[in-house]
Amino acid sequence: MTPKVQTSPAATVLVCITCKSELGSAGAALYDALEARLVDEDIALCPVECLSVCKRPCTVALAAPGKWTYVVGDLSREDNIEDIVTAARRYAAAPDGLVPWRERPLPFRKGVISRTPPLVPTLTR
Ligand code: FES
Repeated sequence: MTPKVQTSPAATVLVCITCKSELGSAGAALYDALEARLVDEDIALCPVECLSVCKRPCTVALAAPGKWTYVVGDLSREDNIEDIVTAARRYAAAPDGLVPWRERPLPFRKGVISRTPPLVPTLTR
C-alpha cells in the first residue's frame, strides 16, 4: 500500500490502517477497498495510524474544514464499503457536516463513537 494523503473541503474519510481483527489487518484491507471504490467520487481518503478506538475495529472518521468530525467504529471491508460511501456523500452535501440521523446508513447511527465541532464556529444549528 502506498497511501496518498489528501483531503477535501467537502469530505475526507480517514481510515485507521492499524485496526486489527481476528482476520488480520482489517483496517489496511478496508483502506485498500475504499481507495479502489472512491476513485470516481469527490471524496478524499486519508490513512491514519490509530484513532484510539482500537476495541471497535475498524474505525473511520469523516472530517472537513468547518464541519463537525464524526468517528465511527465497528466497520468492515466485507459489510460496510457502500455504507461508508453513502455516509461520506451525505456528509459532503451537508454544509456543517451534520447529517440527520435518519439519513445516515445504519452503521453510522449505531457505530458513532464521537462527534467533535469544527474549530471555527458555524452559524448554522
Ligand atoms: S488501531 Fe485502529 S483505532 Fe487504534
